[in-house]
Amino acid sequence: MNHRWQSRWLNGALILLIGFTVLLGGCQTSPATTTTSADAVYQQRSPSRDGIGKFYMGREIAQVMGHLGAGWLERPSREREEKPQALIKALDLKPTDVVADIGAGTGYFSFRISSLVPQGKVLAVDVQPEMLAIIEAIRQEKKVGNVETVLGSTTIPNLKAGSIDLALMVDAYHEFDHPREMMQAIAQALKPDGRVVLVEYRGENPLIPIKPLHKMTQRQVRSEMAAVGLTWLETKETLPQQHILFFGKQA
Ligand SMILES: C[S@@+](CC[C@H](N)C(=O)[O-])C[C@H]1O[C@@H](n2cnc3c(N)ncnc32)[C@H](O)[C@@H]1O
Repeated sequence: MNHRWQSRWLNGALILLIGFTVLLGGCQTSPATTTTSADAVYQQRSPSRDGIGKFYMGREIAQVMGHLGAGWLERPSREREEKPQALIKALDLKPTDVVADIGAGTGYFSFRISSLVPQGKVLAVDVQPEMLAIIEAIRQEKKVGNVETVLGSTTIPNLKAGSIDLALMVDAYHEFDHPREMMQAIAQALKPDGRVVLVEYRGENPLIPIKPLHKMTQRQVRSEMAAVGLTWLETKETLPQQHILFFGKQA
């Protein structure tokens, strides 16, 4: 009798345990969209061919262009494809401006801008020390005095608070693997009337021959900047294939 009681009790406990396990299992988030509470603005899924599998505000973040691709950034066809001088003209720089070229790569834009800010400077920020070494070698060869390299991390660009007139990101923002943290830090580094400029291949146009994750729609950029409190000022559509989006700090 005693023995039968014991086994009934054990069976009951076992059923309860299985029930709890099933219940808890059912409450778990699907592995396809797992988020951690410390990092809830991002979702991790299986990566697509050119992405890192990390999603932010509905878009997958692109893989970083490695330093072995540095030659591609200096390709002669870039003059025709991107019209760098038209972009620089659109920036409307003052000679005293301090410009942070964030995701500077080989310094393609840093060196083209430096002569326009003779009383200011260009801070060439990148996360790849190899890219910064290339910039430093070009800087010495060209004897440019007002380009400084800054090693950033994936979450902060290592810029002093309130020190920047213009934060420029050309073909770089879509690769930031912590875009929320980066943009919050960049906003802090801006002077009160400082501007943020993002240049991205137009995601709205499927005919532009750039991988989809390396393009962005204007709508996507604007909502991601609004999420960190940056106000859209204007978009210039003077380049053949890229948007130039201007933002400022909220008044
Ligand atoms: C496609 S390249 C563009 C380089 C340059 N802006 C140009 O137009 O020639 C993107 C660069 O962004 C850098 N990058 C990626 N994530 C970054 C981050 N969180 N902070 C700074 N640079 C970053 C990469 O190392 C790479 O050099």
